[in-house]
Amino acid sequence: MPPETPENYLKIIALDGAAATGKSSTALALAKKLDFLHVDTGSHFRILTYHLLEQNISAENSRSLVKALKKLILTTSIEDHSAFLEINSDKLSKESLRSFKVNQLVSKYASIKLLRDFLLIYQRSLTDFANDKNYAGIVVEGRDIGSIVFPNTPLKIFLYADEEIRINRRLNEGQKDVIKERDAIDKTRKLAPLTCSPDALRINTANHSLDEVVALILKEVSL
Ligand code: C5P
Repeated sequence: MPPETPENYLKIIALDGAAATGKSSTALALAKKLDFLHVDTGSHFRILTYHLLEQNISAENSRSLVKALKKLILTTSIEDHSAFLEINSDKLSKESLRSFKVNQLVSKYASIKLLRDFLLIYQRSLTDFANDKNYAGIVVEGRDIGSIVFPNTPLKIFLYADEEIRINRRLNEGQKDVIKERDAIDKTRKLAPLTCSPDALRINTANHSLDEVVALILKEVSL
């Protein structure tokens, strides 16, 4: 008998890429088309960062970080095919999650092993959550989904685009972000760096419309 792994009972699309490569729009469109659950792991790091900043807990203070994590209760709500992490029943607005302060500091907190391990358990538990809610699969976006979170899934996609294009995308959305700085930390950190798995399908989103990107990925899913 093969071991019982999430890949046995659920289709998992691992969608990785740097900031502003189009992951969220692509993941949500795929989730709607396939009736899958959409999971944005970037938002997990953002909400955790927000909570720690609220309590003035610095990334350097591991003792306080351990204490703070023990007090957090994680729950999940669903809205229009997307799963949202709530911490102590607090669901943050998009504005809070994408505030300049969070943009500036999220990659620093996301480099800490303690915090990554904490979220990894939660992220992996979402396969059972999706299965219980009768979804046929999940689309999980992030930086380390194909390499660390779900390395056994055969459906791995890596989105990329030139840095200048990505910076302009955020500017056009009216967002103050630090894409260069976040990318540098995310790519070079020792733990779970942003990486393209060798078995991932690579798509340059500067060369395709959203519909085209979704169509390319759907072909993989139906193979
Ligand atoms: O995807 P988004 O840009 O919202 O992610 C915010 C930050 O969270 C990233 O810059 C990265 O530091 C961190 N992150 C991560 N691993 C993931 C998803 C996000 O380290 N799987």
